[in-house]
Amino acid sequence: MTKAVKKAVIPAAGLGTRFLPASKAVPKEMLPIVDVPTIQLVIEEAVRGGIEQVVLVNGRHKSAIEEHFDHAYELEHTLAERGKTDELVVLSKVAELAQILSVRQKQPLGLGHAVLCAKDAVGEEPVAVLLADDLFDGGENPGIAQLTKAYADCGGAGVVAVMEVEEGQEHKYGIVAGELDERGFIRVTEMVEKPPPGTAPSRMAIIGRYVLPPEIWPALESTERGHGGEIQLTDAMRALVTDGPGLFAIPIEGQRYDAGDKLGFLHANLAFALKRNELRKPLLALMQALIDANLEESQV
Ligand code: G1P
Repeated sequence: MTKAVKKAVIPAAGLGTRFLPASKAVPKEMLPIVDVPTIQLVIEEAVRGGIEQVVLVNGRHKSAIEEHFDHAYELEHTLAERGKTDELVVLSKVAELAQILSVRQKQPLGLGHAVLCAKDAVGEEPVAVLLADDLFDGGENPGIAQLTKAYADCGGAGVVAVMEVEEGQEHKYGIVAGELDERGFIRVTEMVEKPPPGTAPSRMAIIGRYVLPPEIWPALESTERGHGGEIQLTDAMRALVTDGPGLFAIPIEGQRYDAGDKLGFLHANLAFALKRNELRKPLLALMQALIDANLEESQV
């Protein structure tokens, strides 16, 4: 029987250049979806998927993330004095969400390198990896929970979440190809990080959720720099296929948002806001007014 997946790694050391100037002093993982930082949504997903300990891989200027998941005694004291109990409950839930520890990635050498920085903190156990740029709304079935379930069914092989992307978009992703089995899983035989346009072996793209067996550590240690001159997680996973327990790509259900992209971030904000009862109606009215005004403008 495979060991239960209790630990997760969340890389959060990127510079966030796509969100400058907002990400100059605030880590991009703290930018809010309505009023919740993206990284909190990702950690909530992890916790709903059975994760108990989260290892954040931080770079410089990331202490805001650590503070966010800690108690803020002064603030909590002031809220208590003012009788703001709802806000107090929200804050203490965030601080109690999971056991969170941080490790540093001292050099920006890529996603594979970032995950490797968590090796000692995780140890010889299966590990979930969640990319904070990928927001996932699986409703009752959180993305990582779909993967941990699949992992238990795959006899020690790694599992990675995939979704079919539109033709012409493959170069933005890690792409996998392989044979579909009777469970609907793809036994991966081929994998390439950001294939040049026109060369992708399929349209099945990795979407930022992984459960990897301990064999990933030696694989990462021996992975050389690949796409973009960086140590790629996709390249290390290839070693799981060639010399390790194998890898399955799991087509997962739910809506994924690319919160690392401006349009994807705005999309996620609107979609999550529309799920809030108090915001839904007035937001729809505002959006309709904006649409009407823009249609009129484009007709003039
Ligand atoms: C990373 C991975 C890539 C994956 C993507 C999903 O790339 O390297 O394989 O498809 O996340 O969001 P990034 O978008 O960080 O460049």
